[in-house]
Amino acid sequence: MSKKSMKNYRENTIITHAGRNPLENHGVVNPPVYHASTITFPTMNAFETRDQPPYEGAQYGRSGTPTQFAFEQAVSALHGAHKSVSYPSGLAAIAATFCTLVKHGDHVLIADTVYGPTRSRVCGVIMKKMGVEVEFYDAQIGAGIKDLLRTNTVLVFMESPGSLTFEVQDVPAITGALEGTGVFSLIDNTWASGYFYKPISHGVDFVIEAATKYTVGHSDAMLGTVTVNTEEHFQMLKGIANTYGYHAGPDDCYLGQRGLRTIGVRLEQHQKNALEVATWLESRDEVARVMYPALPSNPGYEIWKRDFSGASGLFGVEFVEAPKAAVEAMMDGYALFGIGASWGGYESLTQSCYPGKLRTARPWDGKGPTVRYHIGLEDPSDLIDELSAGFDRFNAARK
Ligand SMILES: Cc1ncc(COP(=O)(O)O)c(C=O)c1O
Repeated sequence: MSKKSMKNYRENTIITHAGRNPLENHGVVNPPVYHASTITFPTMNAFETRDQPPYEGAQYGRSGTPTQFAFEQAVSALHGAHKSVSYPSGLAAIAATFCTLVKHGDHVLIADTVYGPTRSRVCGVIMKKMGVEVEFYDAQIGAGIKDLLRTNTVLVFMESPGSLTFEVQDVPAITGALEGTGVFSLIDNTWASGYFYKPISHGVDFVIEAATKYTVGHSDAMLGTVTVNTEEHFQMLKGIANTYGYHAGPDDCYLGQRGLRTIGVRLEQHQKNALEVATWLESRDEVARVMYPALPSNPGYEIWKRDFSGASGLFGVEFVEAPKAAVEAMMDGYALFGIGASWGGYESLTQSCYPGKLRTARPWDGKGPTVRYHIGLEDPSDLIDELSAGFDRFNAARK
């Protein structure tokens, strides 16, 4: 179905139909997996004009396959955007977008609450090597970002809500402050995905997602996307993706588009389960705070309610002060919650985390141990039973 006609439909219809056309593929419902390095052309002239229609796009495996294009079309349709580019991981998408926009001597503004490797690897290694000055700003800055702009500032990078501590940024206030400055706005939108938040509609230039999480949705593939609303931004991204030789594999793109078909029903269920578990956790004496934007007690609740259409299944918990052994006793006994670094799959997951080690613009004010939970699609009553038994071990170990 063409991208243009998709615009007339509502969200769940778009994710069911965008980026696939059975009539082009023997009636097969899903776009096929094209494994390709070499692409051949019928004539020398066709080969020499392969960057023009009908060949533009699939010229050589590295520049993309029809499977990749089908996935990208579905993602951009969900965002109501112009186009998307896919990458072999979320971090690759972040690194590629930075490298598309910066040069030696530039200055970049980065939210203090970004995903750890955005700070430590993209900023701490790549930007440093390139001689780009990195400044971290308080995620609650809003329109105040304007005061931090310099003549050599090229981009403002947001992540909302922030990693581990889930502060919600006032994205429209930031993009409003950047209007007319020529400074690019970027956001890591992985938590909400295009289903619960569409930053393009708030004027963000580059919307980055680790499709590894909710888009793929089954913890079995690595994938990233960057979505833009102008052909100019698309060409900038694609030029650098081709230069670095970034290539999202066809099997992973296939899993990405297949995951996307059910992202609506999955996210609605993740939200329902997470709200139930987060509300229960908030009532416990062992819990100092639950960091989940959908809870009215959270500082970002009003902005979340204004800008997002829902909340995903990921949140943080700060416990009352306790020795590490108590947290270990609690977590090591979980059976349903796996312990691992990712999230966004159908299953529940948890990990310990240390936001105090990562914040510089606004020091972390938490005192107790912090854990991140991803609430999966299990029955939330079973998860609550498991967490409750975990608190028994926690309490026994801190006596
Ligand atoms: C918020 C956020 N952005 C980006 C990434 C990176 O994605 P990937 O693991 O696909 O490189 C992650 C991974 O955990 C993440 O949590």
